[in-house]
Parts: sequence; C-alpha cells; structure tokens
Amino acid sequence: AASVPPFRPGLEGVPATQSAICDIDGQRGLLTYRGYGADVLAANSTFLETTYLLIWGALPTAAQLREFEQEVQMHRRVSFRIRDMMKCFPASGHPMDALQSSAASLGLFYSRRALDNPEYIYEAVVRLIAKIPTMVAAFQLIRKGQDPIQPRDDLPFASNFLYMLTEREPDPLAARIFDACLILHAEHSLNASTFSARVTASTLTDPYAVVASAVGTLAGPLHGGANEDVLAMLEAIGSEDQVEPWLDQAIAEKQKIMGFGHREYKVKDPRAVILQGLAEQLFDRFGHDPLYDLARRVEEAAAVRLGPKGIYPNVDFYSGLVYRKLGIPRDLFTPIFAIARTAGWLAHWKEQLGANRIFRPSQIYTGAEPREWVPLEAR
Ligand code: SDX
Repeated sequence: AASVPPFRPGLEGVPATQSAICDIDGQRGLLTYRGYGADVLAANSTFLETTYLLIWGALPTAAQLREFEQEVQMHRRVSFRIRDMMKCFPASGHPMDALQSSAASLGLFYSRRALDNPEYIYEAVVRLIAKIPTMVAAFQLIRKGQDPIQPRDDLPFASNFLYMLTEREPDPLAARIFDACLILHAEHSLNASTFSARVTASTLTDPYAVVASAVGTLAGPLHGGANEDVLAMLEAIGSEDQVEPWLDQAIAEKQKIMGFGHREYKVKDPRAVILQGLAEQLFDRFGHDPLYDLARRVEEAAAVRLGPKGIYPNVDFYSGLVYRKLGIPRDLFTPIFAIARTAGWLAHWKEQLGANRIFRPSQIYTGAEPREWVPLEAR
C-alpha cells in the first residue's frame, strides 16, 4: 500500500503521460504549442500551419505547408454515403452527436490501422482535418432541409468552412478571426477530451475511433459546451444592474459560473484575453453586441467574488461572443471547438503511438467484501 500514490479526484495534479506538444503555465497564464506562444501563433500563423506544427513538431517549410494545404483541400469532400447517413439523423439532434457518429463512420472507409506507416498517419491526419469541417457544415444545411454544398477548392481552410456553413463567402476579416479562433482552440495538453483520445489511442485502434471518442468527451457542458451556456447566462442576466444580484444568487446556490474556472489556470485564461481582442475587432467592424458589455461587467463582478479562489474567465467566456458575431448558430460552437481540437487530438494520438503502452490505471476498491450468493426466493 505504501507504493500506491494518493487518489486524486479527477486525477487533479496527476501526470498521466509525458508529452512534448503543449505547455501551460497556469500561474502566469502562458500557453505554448511546441515551444511557440499560442498568442504568437494566433497573430502570425494559420490553423493548418499550426496543425502541422502540433502534429509533426516543427513549423513546416513553404513546400511542406503547400503540400499539406493541397492535400487537405483535396480531401475535404465527404462520401455521399456519409451525407446520406446524416440525412437520417433527426434534425433536432445535437450537432455533437451527429459529428461523433459521422467522424466514427470515416473508419468504415479509411481504417487500415497501419500505425507504423508514416504515410498512413499523414493520410489519416489529412482526412480528419479536412473532412470534419465539411461534416459539421453538412449537418447544418441538412437539418435546415437543404442539400449540403460542396467545398470550394479556391477558398482557404477557414473561409471554406464559413462558406459551406453559410453559403456565402465570408468577409476576409471574419475569416482571419475565425482562423485565429481555431488556432486558439487547437490544443491544450491533457484536457478531458485529449485524455480520452490518448486512452483510446493507447489500445492501437484507428485514428477515426480516437477522434470519435474525443468528440463524445468534448460534448459535455463542463468541457466543450460551456460557451453556449455563457451566452444563455448573459441573456438570463439581461441587464448590467442585474449582474451582481444574479452572480450572488448563483454563487450562494453553489452554481458553476459558465466560462469561469480552470483546472490549470489560476489567472485569466490567455486565450480569453486574445478572444476578447478578436471580439472587439469584430464589433468595431460589424457593429457592437450589448452582451459584450454585460460580459465585461460579469467579469469585473466575478473577479471580486471568485478571483480570490483563482477562478477567472476561461477560453469559453468570450469565444461565444465571437462566434455569435460571425453568425454561427449557438449549438455549433462545440462542433467548431472539435474542428480545431482535432489537431491536438491527432498530435496526441501520434505521440501516444510512440509511447506504446496501454493506459490501465489502478483504483482504490471501496465495494463490498466477498459474500455468499443469495437465491432469488430468499431475497
Ligand atoms: C474547457 O482542461 C482544459 O484545458 C479544458 C479546456 C481546453 O482547452 O480543453 O480549457 C476547455 O473545458 C474550459 C472550461 C469550460 N467549462 C466551464 O466554463 C464550466 C464551468 N467551469 C467549472 O465547471 C470548472 O471550473 C472546471 C470544470 C473548468 C474545472 O473544474 P475543477 O478544476 O475540477 O474545479 P472544481 O470543480 O473542483 O472547483 C474547485 C473549486 C470548487 O469550490 P469548492 O467546492 O472547493 O469550495 O472552485 C469552484 C468549485 O465550486 N469553482 C467554481 C467554478 N469553477 C470552480 N465556482 C463557481 N463557478 C465556477 N465556474
């Protein structure tokens, strides 16, 4: 018993793996992807370039990036079989459930499990990065009773997704800001959905099952779904004079304030800082959103009440306001998180293949002592 490490609920503070992909300094609010600041990447990189960096560990050369972009562009289309399957999904279903099903179905077409073959790994990365946005956009059009529209090869990654989703070419500023959002959501060390991805990867199943497992995990309101709830919270508060009473009541009722708190960050999430700036750029260009003023008041009031406990805005607090300004339906916020986090999930999948050890932690048994069988008539 002496050698058993102490049990930590939620594995808090327990290193479950070694990884070279992402580092978080929760005390100073710093986030780096393979050593590059996420803030620097959001300002200078693109989502596909950052995806390449996360997965293969170095910034691509111009030739490598061009090839990766062309491969992704060539694989954006999704088989009519998957589109027809999506037409059978109930339009009322949550898009994350649709995404989990359609992402898993890619395995029916492409799984070869040649996990020691770098070509197979490259192919699987390209297909998942390329097809998941198409599936999210397809579900949106199908549930509106329309046929999904095909990707446009002349549009870069972010613009093409917004085009497939809205049937309109996006404004260049909107596309650039959306691409920066994807970079900021691409990776975050061992969050719950990435941990799911690594556990699934450790059994040597195929990468499509790995991503489907992670999508299911991200769908939970404590993880990916919070930015939808932040907007609902702001609408429930309604006006700035209601912020403090609303917060005081929520805290008195031990409610979790959505978009706040983090297992790692004990200061404001650096991604929230950048997303706030992106939101303000959109408001300057496309008009203000009064919910933003409310959000700022909530942040101020929460700093007094929750700040002393190290609870500050996380990535979800302002991201919903950005997507709302981009005209993205609220229940697609988490699928968009999944589009971005597929990069991180696949980086961890590839790294886990190298670790080559199945996850099988121990437990502390708290159940019944061995006991005798009792026949039904005697119970
Ligand atoms: C993401 O892990 C990642 O990196 C995730 C993510 C990523 O990029 O992958 O960053 C994305 O998931 C962001 C988080 C989105 N979720 C929310 O905004 C939901 C609200 N947040 C909380 O549920 C919570 O803060 C978590 C889930 C984010 C973190 O949970 P922890 O670390 O398990 O913290 P906890 O629940 O144990 O809380 C510790 C204390 C508790 O108080 P006490 O019981 O000790 O008195 O802090 C309190 C909690 O009540 N607390 C909150 C709070 N978060 C923690 N109190 C009020 N509001 C909150 N939001």
